[in-house]
Amino acid sequence: MQLKHNPYQNFDIQLSEIFNDFTDALCLIDDKGIVHLSNKAYINLFGDNPFPPKNFISNFSEDHQKEIIGLIQHLFSKNNKEHRFENEFILKDRRKIWLEFTTAFLENHRNQNLLFLIIRDITEKKQIELKLLKSEERYRSVFNQANDAMFVCYLNYGRTLSNFVEVNEVACRTLDYTKDNLQNQNPYSVIFNNFEGEVVKIIDMIWLEGHAIFDTVQVTKTGNKIPAEISAHLIEFNNKPAVLFISRDVSQREEAERKIKDTGERLRNLALHLQNIREEERTLIVREIHDELGQMLTFLKIQIALVGKKLNDDQQILKDKIDSSLKLIDDSINSIQRISEKLRPNVLDELGIGPAIDWQAKDFSDRTGIECVCDLPKEEPFLDKEKSTAVFRIFQEALTNIARHANADKVFISLKEYKNNLILEIKDNGKGITVNQINDSRSLGILGMKERAMLFSGRVKIKSSMNSGTSVLVEIPFNN
Ligand SMILES: Nc1ncnc2c1ncn2[C@@H]1O[C@H](COP(=O)(O)OP(=O)(O)OP(=O)(O)O)[C@@H](O)[C@H]1O
Ligand SMILES: [Mg+2]
Repeated sequence: MQLKHNPYQNFDIQLSEIFNDFTDALCLIDDKGIVHLSNKAYINLFGDNPFPPKNFISNFSEDHQKEIIGLIQHLFSKNNKEHRFENEFILKDRRKIWLEFTTAFLENHRNQNLLFLIIRDITEKKQIELKLLKSEERYRSVFNQANDAMFVCYLNYGRTLSNFVEVNEVACRTLDYTKDNLQNQNPYSVIFNNFEGEVVKIIDMIWLEGHAIFDTVQVTKTGNKIPAEISAHLIEFNNKPAVLFISRDVSQREEAERKIKDTGERLRNLALHLQNIREEERTLIVREIHDELGQMLTFLKIQIALVGKKLNDDQQILKDKIDSSLKLIDDSINSIQRISEKLRPNVLDELGIGPAIDWQAKDFSDRTGIECVCDLPKEEPFLDKEKSTAVFRIFQEALTNIARHANADKVFISLKEYKNNLILEIKDNGKGITVNQINDSRSLGILGMKERAMLFSGRVKIKSSMNSGTSVLVEIPFNN
């Protein structure tokens, strides 16, 4: 079918139908830019109406049109050559657009040579390309501006590592290498040379989990050793699996850690020293009041009793006075014994930790009415005096806590030896303790128990579940 003013009249109507099936914009233009035929995609792209035919250049902004004419003429001058190019254009509505042109030539029935244009909007593709380019630039600048040394090597088939394919400036500076020299090295000599673990395991971890962190010692070209924390990541580099090693110099951190450890150790020694002094002073006071004061009171008791015996039957008032004085002296002797036992139980020094715990548990029951069930070893464990004192003081604090906070009516105490450790467990059936209470920096009693155990490389573990009581587990190694 042919229309009177159909601009396609010189062409087979089928051609225009075929044109419309294409998703790319298509058009036929002459050397003046007049559009002889276009398809739907062309109209969608330029928003143009094909009737009457317009000039191709009118699709573009006015300040751009001269360039387009130049382009068309240039294409005609290269007649019949197929051509492909892409460029950024500004359309008549000022929209910026990237177009890819593929060109060919067709002749119409009047032997007029027409330029056949396939036009594809590639703006999105270009934007992605630009982004990638930018992210690549960004990656490079991050890589080179990072404060940490970075190395990249390929992860080969068989989980072996290639020589470095990329190293940053910090890496070169830290290890005293030029970039070329360092890129000739491999991770086995630079990163894993002094690594104490198994390299294969680390590589497996990177491969399976995507990352790994480990400590190592890196050696500079001149032989200086730098302790480093390496964080390794599985990445894609040039479309191949690769490993990015980020190495952080931890010499300062290690120095600070060493100082903190030193200070902690010194404080612990000081605490041990102070505790020893306290125990020694207690022993001394006990000896003074028990032995000296006790003996003096006993002596006084004998003297007064003798005086009493000398009194006649008619001196009843005096006799009564003497009896009450003797009773007072007995009470004083008893209370001296009680005070001495409290300060430092004799049984601890004379019979050892087992009997001391038994004695303390009975005393606790008598005073508080809380029942104590003791499971003690038949043979007394061999523990030196300082450790026995520490265990005993921890035990006393645990009992005091039960009396003060637990609301319990029963305590289970067990003392045993297990794998070169003395294990003491104190378990109550009270209301239990929370994790916050255990870890609260104001829980000085608990902290004191832990510190005492730590002085002998031991530990105190406190566990509880609500309404099922609290358990204090003390572990002290026989040999430190
Ligand atoms: N056996 C227990 N049952 C329940 N709560 C406990 C028990 N032992 C300790 N607690 C809780 O833990 C907290 C901390 O105990 P910690 O011994 O450190 O301090 P304290 O007994 O309050 O004071 P002190 O410094 O005099 O010992 C207690 O205040 C109490 O709330
Ligand atoms: Mg306490």
